[in-house]
Amino acid sequence: MTAPIRVSVTGAAGNIGYALLFRLAAGDCYGKDQPIILQLLEIAPGMKALEGVVMELLDSAFPLLHGVEISDDPNKAFSGINQAFLVGSRPRTKDMNRADLISANGPIFTGQGRALNDNAADDVRVIVVGNPCNTNALIAAHSAPGIPKDRFHAMTRLDENRAKAQLAKKLSALPGEVSNLGIWGNHSDTMYPDFAHARVRGQAVTEQVGQDWLQGDFLKTVATRGKAIIEARGASSAASAASAAIDHMSTLWHGNAKGDFTSMGVWSEGQYGVPKGLIFSFPVTSGGGNWSIVEGLEHDEFAKAKIAATTQELLNERETVKDLLK
Ligand code: NAD
Ligand code: LMR
Repeated sequence: MTAPIRVSVTGAAGNIGYALLFRLAAGDCYGKDQPIILQLLEIAPGMKALEGVVMELLDSAFPLLHGVEISDDPNKAFSGINQAFLVGSRPRTKDMNRADLISANGPIFTGQGRALNDNAADDVRVIVVGNPCNTNALIAAHSAPGIPKDRFHAMTRLDENRAKAQLAKKLSALPGEVSNLGIWGNHSDTMYPDFAHARVRGQAVTEQVGQDWLQGDFLKTVATRGKAIIEARGASSAASAASAAIDHMSTLWHGNAKGDFTSMGVWSEGQYGVPKGLIFSFPVTSGGGNWSIVEGLEHDEFAKAKIAATTQELLNERETVKDLLK
């Protein structure tokens, strides 16, 4: 019998948490032969609701679920964990940008970064979902000096999935027939979904769809999808966000298909001219808990301008939170 891994989810009684926990317990992330112990974090007012979620987890009788622990203390919730999903934080409302959440949510990630530093297992991997996720991941990484920076990720897989869905719809293909779609930069309206290298059924997208649509409606739909969902649902994306988080951590664990790549917000060391020390979404290949940025992708002037704009936005966010980056 494989030993269980310890997986922490923060904000576990929230909307994303409710969609995420059951997928994790069912083996959708680490595989149907990998037992799991869930260590769930909430703030005190959320603990009662979390107790109800735990009842439902137990009532589902998941064979792989070897334990569920709950706490409102990150030092307990992160004790010995191998994997962390940092979800807990405020979502925006329809009149806000994600960056408007920095002052409310940023400080959460100093305390949680320290708690990860002090309590997590040596092999810990961390995905930050809570917005603004790139800058929150940066704060967490700075607050955990004992954990290598490349272990902290921001989630842009939802943007990748959205872009694939739009391309599939346009070309009457299945989402699984879309490959090599990388998101560059920030999980915000400035992101660049890189259609220039994307392929549908193995053929370049740019040979199948006109630039007007790609640079226009496609890009705008992907970049503003979060807001469109908030306007329609009255609440931000939850099940699709949970699904993307599973996709991200599953790819990190199991690897991506040969010849393909995926999108992860990761620590920049200066690749593609992006300044060192930003959590920036790049196209990466991944597996076994590690990742590396895809090399040699060329950008035309349009792409260069988009990447410059999203880089500048992340630099501005970093400046805003500089007091949290100790
Ligand atoms: P929600 O309000 O439904 O749930 C958030 C939960 O977090 C609540 O239960 C709350 O009590 C808890 N929480 C708050 N502060 C906490 C803390 N310090 N420690 C532990 N738990 C805490 O929100 P949601 O819909 O689940 O969204 C959560 C976050 O994910 C938001 O910031 C949202 O913007 C973000 N999000 C990101 C993406 C992405 O693609 N990166 C997608 C969707 C949502
Ligand atoms: C999303 O992309 O759906 C999330 O980041 C939620 C939001 O605020 O847009």
